[in-house]
Amino acid sequence: MGDHKFESVERYIDDLFVPADPALDAALAAQSAGLPDIQVSAGQGKLLYLLARLCGARRILEIGTLAGYSAIWLGRALRVDGRLITLEVNAEHAAMARTNLDRAGLGGRVEVLVGTALETLPRLAAGVDAPFDLVFLDADKTGYVAYLDWALELTRPGGLILADNVVRGGTVLDAGADAAAQGARAFNAALAADPRVEAIVVQQVGSKGHDGLAIARMK
Ligand code: SAH
Ligand code: DHB
Ligand code: MG
Repeated sequence: MGDHKFESVERYIDDLFVPADPALDAALAAQSAGLPDIQVSAGQGKLLYLLARLCGARRILEIGTLAGYSAIWLGRALRVDGRLITLEVNAEHAAMARTNLDRAGLGGRVEVLVGTALETLPRLAAGVDAPFDLVFLDADKTGYVAYLDWALELTRPGGLILADNVVRGGTVLDAGADAAAQGARAFNAALAADPRVEAIVVQQVGSKGHDGLAIARMK
């Protein structure tokens, strides 16, 4: 974001708290062959991991898998006998994620469901994995308001709803911004107003630019 100090400090933090990891590195290397570089950063992954650990998550739902980088972080936070379900519309992304999750030793605990999230979510609501302890939104931002409705249905009391990319370089301030920023803006407004959760948005800066993570706890 034009201030290289944010990236220097990010590197300093990650060097201290996020040691290099063969499975995560391999996932990024595989992803770099043609998939977009839009996974969470290493430090953001560690934050997701810690939030999942803090709520003792056994059942996690992710919406937006890409190559499985954040799914590896979340999958590693699961308690023994835990399960992660991750939703991905793009079959090639899903296939690469399966490979990366298997390599990380998580193949048996993580299911990648291929399809548009709005088609797969109703099936989850009827299935045995719901309710979830943690739901992480990271797919198309234009869908965030609808995904929030599902997350509010599918998360247990005391569970967490997290959403990536809700600041978008500050473009959420602008009602005339692009569709993704408008999606994030509408999501933030809906989350803030919903009586079923207590929530905040944390700004984040560094290698992924200026963005934010929404953190909500179900009452
Ligand atoms: N969580 C990942 C990054 C996800 S990028 C990580 O941090 O490692 C967003 C992903 O959402 C992309 O792979 C994209 O194909 C997927 N996606 C976009 N629209 C979707 C939809 N309607 N349903 C499910 N997945 C979708
Ligand atoms: C985009 C998507 C993401 O999930 C992200 O973290 C960054 C960018 C995007 O679609 O541009
Ligand atoms: Mg994201």
